[in-house]
Amino acid sequence: MAFKVLITGATGYIGGAVLTQFLATRHPGISISALVRSEKQEELLRDLGVTPIRFQGLDDVVVIRAQAALHDVVVSCTSTMDKASCIALVEGLGERRQQGRPAYYIHTSGTSNFGDHPITGSPDTHILRDVDDVFGWEQKDPSAWSVREVDVAVTVTGEQLGVKTFIVNPPIIYGIGNGPGNKLSIQIPTLTKLSLATNQAVVFADGKGVSSCTWPQPVTTQIVNVLQLWSVTHISDVARFYDMLLGQIIDGKSVASGKSGYYFLDAGEVSWLQISQAIAHVGKSRGHFESEEPKALNPDEFTALLGKPSLNAYKTEVIWASK
Ligand SMILES: NC(=O)c1ccc[n+]([C@@H]2O[C@H](COP(=O)([O-])OP(=O)(O)OC[C@H]3O[C@@H](n4cnc5c(N)ncnc54)[C@H](OP(=O)(O)O)[C@@H]3O)[C@@H](O)[C@H]2O)c1
Repeated sequence: MAFKVLITGATGYIGGAVLTQFLATRHPGISISALVRSEKQEELLRDLGVTPIRFQGLDDVVVIRAQAALHDVVVSCTSTMDKASCIALVEGLGERRQQGRPAYYIHTSGTSNFGDHPITGSPDTHILRDVDDVFGWEQKDPSAWSVREVDVAVTVTGEQLGVKTFIVNPPIIYGIGNGPGNKLSIQIPTLTKLSLATNQAVVFADGKGVSSCTWPQPVTTQIVNVLQLWSVTHISDVARFYDMLLGQIIDGKSVASGKSGYYFLDAGEVSWLQISQAIAHVGKSRGHFESEEPKALNPDEFTALLGKPSLNAYKTEVIWASK
């Protein structure tokens, strides 16, 4: 059966690498379209053999829904936080389903969903695995983090409309991307830019966090000693995961979806302190910094340095300091 695949965010870091991997694998019988918002992007994609579809952006939900309805598989790699556009994609696939076609939605989420607040709030040392009831956990308090709210809404809407949904949670992604647009990730490049602007590597608080939590079960000594660790994955492994998932769908294999369709990508762990120490080491060796020690910034200092009105200390802590 021929599969029509629609990808969003193809000019971004994740979406670009995913698209490049899809094109390299050449899954038999698939055609790929991409939603883009400029003429230049249309040309870039056409040159790759991808059909560009122009839209005004994530607020353009009428076009988003209508285009999703023309595809069998939608791979969403734009915003993890924009509920309206993600739901429009699932609803469009729901219309496709009504025509008797299969409908699959692969959603890019993120492990910030599971980050705690070790400095400004309460630390949470509980570790979730993708075989746990992640949906149930997210559903307990979806409004606590907008990415979580989108995951829950996507899963519930997919179930209602007969669309198979897959929630992919990449951790910190590193490595240079190979898509047609942005090739840089978010967290480590941002920390590097802040460090260069400060002439010293910076770290949110001490990069270690505080551990005194007893929820949901007593904390073991081993877990107490865990620093602010995040999982990490190279962008090429992330792209290969999406490609593997698409391959399984095309081959008609049974893949866990809906409430059981949460996937964590994990190839190792690193603490925020270790990342900042590495930035300090490279920055000093290249003559950018005098010190090889990271400078600890408190939540307000770190947030002010970022200068992004959409990010307050609560949010920056989850993204650059949590576990
Ligand atoms: N990088 C990571 O380590 C990581 C890990 C987990 C989750 N995530 C999340 O995954 C998502 C994608 O990440 P990324 O690193 O690939 O980001 P990115 O490089 O900034 O790419 C974002 C993509 O979404 C598109 N986009 C953004 N806002 C849009 C809007 N209002 N209307 C239409 N298109 C829009 C961009 O299009 P233009 O090219 O037109 O701007 C671009 O194609 C983000 O929500 C991010 O938080 C990232």
